[in-house]
Amino acid sequence: MSVTPRWSRKKPHIPLLAVLLLVFIACSILYNEFSIQQIHESPDHAPHSQETSFTYVKPNLPKGASEVLDRFSSCNTTRNYSGKKIQWVDPDAKSGRRSRVNQESCDVFSGKWVFDNTSYPLYKESDCPYMSDQLACHKHGRSDLQYQYWRWQPRNCNLKRWNATEMWEKLRGKRLMFVGDSLNRGQWISMVCLLQSVIPANKRSISPNAELTIFRAEEYNATVEFLWAPLLVESNSDDPVNHRLAERIIRPDSVLKHSSQWEHADILIFNSYLWWRQGPVKLLWSAEENGACEELNGVGGMELAMGAWADWVASNVIPLKKRVFFVTMSPTHFWSQEWESGSDGNCYNQMTPITLEGYWGSGSDLPTMRMVDKVLSRLGSKVSVINITQLSEYRKDGHPSIYRKFWETLSPQQLANPASYSDCIHWCLPGVPDVWNELIFHFL
Ligand SMILES: *[C@@H]1O[C@H](CO)[C@@H](O)[C@H](O)[C@H]1NC(C)=O
Ligand SMILES: *[C@@H]1O[C@H](CO)[C@@H](O)[C@H](O)[C@H]1NC(C)=O
Ligand SMILES: *[C@@H]1O[C@H](CO)[C@@H](O)[C@H](O)[C@H]1NC(C)=O
Ligand SMILES: *[C@@H]1O[C@H](CO)[C@@H](O)[C@H](O)[C@H]1NC(C)=O
Ligand SMILES: *[C@@H]1O[C@H](CO)[C@@H](O)[C@H](O)[C@H]1NC(C)=O
Ligand SMILES: *[C@@H]1O[C@H](CO)[C@@H](O)[C@H](O)[C@H]1NC(C)=O
Repeated sequence: MSVTPRWSRKKPHIPLLAVLLLVFIACSILYNEFSIQQIHESPDHAPHSQETSFTYVKPNLPKGASEVLDRFSSCNTTRNYSGKKIQWVDPDAKSGRRSRVNQESCDVFSGKWVFDNTSYPLYKESDCPYMSDQLACHKHGRSDLQYQYWRWQPRNCNLKRWNATEMWEKLRGKRLMFVGDSLNRGQWISMVCLLQSVIPANKRSISPNAELTIFRAEEYNATVEFLWAPLLVESNSDDPVNHRLAERIIRPDSVLKHSSQWEHADILIFNSYLWWRQGPVKLLWSAEENGACEELNGVGGMELAMGAWADWVASNVIPLKKRVFFVTMSPTHFWSQEWESGSDGNCYNQMTPITLEGYWGSGSDLPTMRMVDKVLSRLGSKVSVINITQLSEYRKDGHPSIYRKFWETLSPQQLANPASYSDCIHWCLPGVPDVWNELIFHFL
């Protein structure tokens, strides 16, 4: 089915200069985001291949003495990963049950992008007062606007047409909460922009940007919220603004700090991925009182975190009362040679989607996807998968590249070579995340 190799262990050949430029990118774009250079480090190997015996740890135990992690936390000592794993069971598990999304006869995640400038964009960038300067590409100088005009067309059926009033009716009296990293925040902003136009200006409000940001619509008694929790579990990166840290420390066995904020939401939309792609993470188990950390590769750390998260979902979600979605990894487009051999650019100046069916870039890690698939499958109908990876892979044209606000001053060298500081991680709005939200709407 796929024409390109879906996974290659060979890294693209990168000249040293390019690597150095990427280090600059990391400093400029990533003010509050990820290190691009590290995201493209070699993929993680099977997480626990060396260990022979495992100890299982029960997650999400109310904490005793252990301190809350913040950006000043540090490890007293660091040793190799001990092989401890997360033990979680679904009290309601029945074998062979699949989630509602997966039961659909039509796979809405497989299809193609169709140019449609009559129905799209679903809103105008300048009409959304909640737009982020990180995502407002037109405002920041992008003049080719075709990226706004693409509709996702599933192969064997149609997506439900977006209708803001209908969505509000579904949300009446409810809390919808996005939980995750800046990609998820982009999807939240997209949702707010999609929804806000039908609410009079004096009947809507937004709370100041904090760990939890809340958009309210009075007449529907409904909220659309975003909770910053890039690693799902508690970590030293939980400050929504100051989280650019050299050392990533997590409590692999606890989501309690964040779940206390998300537990009363009616509809939850989670994501997590890119923060696990920046090299090894330090584990500080909740039972550990002396700052003794263990070190583990990113995908291994993510597997532990997904276990702690799954434990919460398994024991707290009643599918008829609470909907939980998990959004799969968002692709990056840093190496144009992956879709056009011989070229040496990135997403900068890309104006059309990739048309090669099944195209898959090296930024979307297959071992991570398999691990996520395994965890979500075990949760059965308690979670619905929003599998955005393949459809977003095609959209090399959808990233801000240079057309966004950068927080640090760009040097003349950078300005002379725009590709060197392009953001090929996030997505312009209106754009690709609007479709992710149409998928949510489709399944609600
Ligand atoms: C950690 O494991 C690696 C590979 O198994 C080994 O080479 C290294 O010596 C270990 N380090 C410590 C501190 O045990
Ligand atoms: C849509 O695109 C077509 C072809 O590019 C163009 O002729 C037409 O004017 C566009 N319509 C709108 C409403 O932008
Ligand atoms: C949108 O949904 C509302 C409420 O369900 C309905 O009254 C309206 O006709 C819909 N609009 C369109 C264009 O389908
Ligand atoms: C508004 O919604 C909340 C739940 O989000 C509910 O507890 C409350 O009773 C609702 N208020 C009204 C007036 O319906
Ligand atoms: C590090 O060790 C010292 C002395 O044993 C202890 O007082 C301190 O609390 C430890 N740090 C952490 C983060 O646990
Ligand atoms: C998402 O879709 C891809 C194919 O596009 C598939 O390989 C992967 O297993 C799916 N992931 C999940 C979690 O369903």
